[in-house]
Amino acid sequence: MLAFDQSVITEPLYLEDLPAPAALQMLRSRFPVFDRLLDPGRTAPAALRDAVAAMNAASWEFEDADTGGRGTAYNLAQRATDNRAPGMAALLRLFSPGFDRIPGPETLLLDVLGGDGTLARFVNGLDTPGPMIVSADLSRLMVEACLARDLPALRQAATHSLIRGGALDGVLIAYGSHHLNDDDRPAAVAEAFRTLRPGGRLVLHDFETGGSTARWFDRVVHPWSRTGHPHRHFTRSEMFSLLTAAGFRDVRVMDIDDPFTLHGADAAAARDALLDHLDRMYDLVGAGDTPASRRARIAAALPDMLGAIRVAPSTHGWTARLARTALVAIGTRSTPTGAGDCAHVRYCSHPAAGGHPRPAAAGRSGSGADAHAGRAAPSGRQLELRRTSAAASPARAGPARAGPGDAGCGRRHGYQPAGDRRPGPWPSAGGRSGKRPLDRDEWRNLQP
Ligand SMILES: C[S@@+](CC[C@H](N)C(=O)[O-])C[C@H]1O[C@@H](n2cnc3c(N)ncnc32)[C@H](O)[C@@H]1O
Repeated sequence: MLAFDQSVITEPLYLEDLPAPAALQMLRSRFPVFDRLLDPGRTAPAALRDAVAAMNAASWEFEDADTGGRGTAYNLAQRATDNRAPGMAALLRLFSPGFDRIPGPETLLLDVLGGDGTLARFVNGLDTPGPMIVSADLSRLMVEACLARDLPALRQAATHSLIRGGALDGVLIAYGSHHLNDDDRPAAVAEAFRTLRPGGRLVLHDFETGGSTARWFDRVVHPWSRTGHPHRHFTRSEMFSLLTAAGFRDVRVMDIDDPFTLHGADAAAARDALLDHLDRMYDLVGAGDTPASRRARIAAALPDMLGAIRVAPSTHGWTARLARTALVAIGTRSTPTGAGDCAHVRYCSHPAAGGHPRPAAAGRSGSGADAHAGRAAPSGRQLELRRTSAAASPARAGPARAGPGDAGCGRRHGYQPAGDRRPGPWPSAGGRSGKRPLDRDEWRNLQP
């Protein structure tokens, strides 16, 4: 019989020079939070071996240039941790009960596509202590970069989390969700659901298919980036369906302002900082041979894509701002009793798709919010889909932008049997309230 010596099997490397068992031991000793986070079954050596081999085979785009990736250039761009400050702050606020403040350190969030910890560093730079962020990423380069900054980070795929069930207060899948392919998207959302505690929240962020940011990716980033960018963005209805199919409640989809903001000592320096940021973030090697030529070409392309760069004096000297609108879905994992959840669905017209005016002020929902609840809804991209709280008062009505202002209704939720279904006040939509929620069949009929 052949003797087989297990010790000669080469372990796939989890970090630069460590196989997974040793790396996780190191992580536990450096960051005690991992003692309560890591799932014993998924971090058993045999399970890890397969998971790491799969990650090593899949990860290249955000590794270094030796492997054809753009990770090194990307991280150079992320030295300015506030380069997306308004959007990051808006995303963090969505984890607070009223969607209106950045939670404190008692809240533990997993940043699923965490890169080199830009969000964690942004939070560490806030005036008041923010949530505890654990970064995760597929890329060895990214996780090593977090660890080099003493930020807790885990190498894992969004579709296979090493975190035990129910351990997290919040899960953020943002700034790169389009890198998840069609099969990965439901799996990543399911992993978020599994790892959230009851009452915990998922925030999924990307850009809308056909929108100006998606155009920028398709027409500029894809042809000029070192890696190309052949990734599909998200539709509103896709986001909504992903979250509801995974079991999330109180799901809503909305736009947030998510501009780039870069600073400089004067107007020209701020503008150049922004153009250099785009160049590095997407590693736009195809735009020119020198930084100056790339800057010129990127600047010439912007007006047709994302619009003009606006530069103004600020507390940082001068700040250059490039507008972007991001698409965000929020969902809550039900509590065992369903308290705090509800099944209301609201449809709002989406101005970018349907040409309807965007509501002017927070606290008002879209003009199309009146056209919902049991009626045939307009199809496809004309819908902004939200599941909202039944008990939302006018003061807590869903605004068009971040901050839906609704902490849950405290009654039974879900597709209740008809006898148990009660109409509840809708978040104020131009004065209308009291519409009944859709029942299960009505809801199914409206799925894309
Ligand atoms: C555009 S970067 C964003 C990084 C960071 N969130 C930021 O804003 O700077 C996207 C990140 O997602 C990671 N990523 C892509 N696919 C992934 C997957 N399936 N699982 C985990 N991470 C993934 C990449 O390695 C990359 O670091």
